[in-house]
Amino acid sequence: MSNNKESIEFRKLEHLLVCNYCDVEYKKGTLFKDIELIHRGVSNCNLLDIDTSINLFGKKLDAPLIVAAITGGHSKAEEINKNIAKAVEELNLGMGVGSQRAGLLNSNLWSTYSIVNDYDIPFIMGNLGAVNFIKDGWDEEIIDISVNMINADAMAIHFNPLQEAIQPEGDIDFKGIHILKDIMLNYKQKYKNIPFIAKQVGEGFSKEDAITLKNLGFDGIDVGGSGGTSWAAVEYYRIKDEEFKNFSKKFLEWGIPTAASVLLVKSVFPGTIIATGGIRSGIDMAKSIVIGAHCCGVALPILRAALRSYEEVVKVLEKMIKELKTVMFLTGCDNIESLKKSKYIIKNELKEWIKE
Ligand SMILES: Cc1cc2nc3c(=O)[nH]c(=O)nc-3n(C[C@H](O)[C@H](O)[C@H](O)COP(=O)(O)O)c2cc1C
Repeated sequence: MSNNKESIEFRKLEHLLVCNYCDVEYKKGTLFKDIELIHRGVSNCNLLDIDTSINLFGKKLDAPLIVAAITGGHSKAEEINKNIAKAVEELNLGMGVGSQRAGLLNSNLWSTYSIVNDYDIPFIMGNLGAVNFIKDGWDEEIIDISVNMINADAMAIHFNPLQEAIQPEGDIDFKGIHILKDIMLNYKQKYKNIPFIAKQVGEGFSKEDAITLKNLGFDGIDVGGSGGTSWAAVEYYRIKDEEFKNFSKKFLEWGIPTAASVLLVKSVFPGTIIATGGIRSGIDMAKSIVIGAHCCGVALPILRAALRSYEEVVKVLEKMIKELKTVMFLTGCDNIESLKKSKYIIKNELKEWIKE
């Protein structure tokens, strides 16, 4: 098992290449297809006046959209984060950086993350792995270094048991996660009162998870549900060893679809909910908001665009926002608050999930 700093950087680079060139998305989908919004034939809105702005943890974003954690900590990361940051500044959206562990191990890599501070971004989210608090004894000081690395407005703590379980070099001991409660509290008391967001990376959180996360004191949950990037697929293409390949293949479709995870988490969690995982259009965004998310996150299409140019990132994000505005126009909602109150129908498989 090799987890030294060179192998972490190399693995991150391999993940980017696999995500760019291979079909790494779930086939089963997010289940947003099982939500119908009610068309309002009269509309009673002016499409040009539709206001998609939101307030996320006290920061104003022009649309309920953040670019989810993707990268940092290797040779290609600075350019990718720069292209994302420039686009996000232009559109006044939020942005998360990828896991900061590589930066914590090697300060020469800080600029691959801190490049985001060259841009005026209203909401920047840091990223640390839950398992490292257990395995490596991370504490509030590590959070402080990570927050300062990028002037973070919030810190995401990612939970990725599937990814760790299928990686030959994975960290597989998630026992003892309750230590996060004191660490987050100590950080808030000693350093800065920023929000903490529990984040999945593509397999979703259940209702029971949401209760645990609420009890740990998390301010927000990014459901990171299934339907978009499948980490089993990413590892399937990345790993050369046949045995591991066959193993990850069995988990290609594992996880709670994003729409189901939002509904399950919403039923018990009173804090902020971010819908990430297979958000591919403004229609997905609108449906997320209607069923209870406060904001959405998107990763894979942005990574692919950012590997090309900042203009490509702007194009993808602008298209999603235009689609969101159109849905709002068609549902008679001229702002996000009224979209939240919109009526909807839940059908088929999604209905089964919420009976659970
Ligand atoms: C190349 C790549 C790297 C990622 N790295 C991280 C990471 O470091 N930390 C994290 O919390 N999530 C990470 N994610 C997960 C995303 O933030 C997101 O939750 C997931 O990809 C689902 O969204 P999508 O379907 O829009 O890609 C990564 C995703 C991709 C595609």
